[in-house]
Amino acid sequence: MTRYKKQDPEITRRKFINVAMGTGAGVGVLSLVSALGSAKPAFRLTPEKAPPIKGDILVHASADKEGQPVRVSELSEQGVSAWPMGKDKEGNNVIRKGEPNNQLAVYRFERDRFKVPEDGGHAHVVLQLDGITDQGVVAYSNKCTHAGCAVPNDPNDATRLFCPCHSGEYDLLQGCKVVGGPPPRSMPQLPIKLENDQLVVTETFVTAPYGFLNEADWESYLEQVKEIIG
Ligand code: FES
Repeated sequence: MTRYKKQDPEITRRKFINVAMGTGAGVGVLSLVSALGSAKPAFRLTPEKAPPIKGDILVHASADKEGQPVRVSELSEQGVSAWPMGKDKEGNNVIRKGEPNNQLAVYRFERDRFKVPEDGGHAHVVLQLDGITDQGVVAYSNKCTHAGCAVPNDPNDATRLFCPCHSGEYDLLQGCKVVGGPPPRSMPQLPIKLENDQLVVTETFVTAPYGFLNEADWESYLEQVKEIIG
């Protein structure tokens, strides 16, 4: 008997694009993605797969604390793994972990160590903590903008991220701009504020996450998201 394994067409398409990008087929891949449209079709969108939305709160992603709000007191230079959590149409809590780009890392540094990126990076938003004015907090997607690998801290430098897949490097203190390797753009930042001791999303990722061709592709996707999710 023939064994048949059903595959999610979205995953299949993204896998294909990932493999093609890994082989350095640059121009050909861009043509392919252009022909297919955005790598993330909005028609498959569910609240779990939606990008972070204004008003979402950040909750722990680790198995032992999953779903619990991330507290500022738990943050450090090492970063805390988090998801955005919002509501569905019935008002139930939804952790948006159906979209890999939503896997976040949240960091806390002394505020005066942050710098405006000199070039190649976007202006970052540092959450200033009331009552702890020498500290700042930033939240970024954890998926590399090159080929979507998870990016841990550089073991030799807590202010940097080092991607194990193709040696991409990002500077956490300069808007997570690319400082080495092949990533095409900064790690997407998620602006947040502190409200009732919770970290609350103030707007979605300020730049295009992995899987989008460019900022226009991302903006067009967000328009579709608004129509579907509201
Ligand atoms: S996936 Fe290639 S550098 Fe990160």
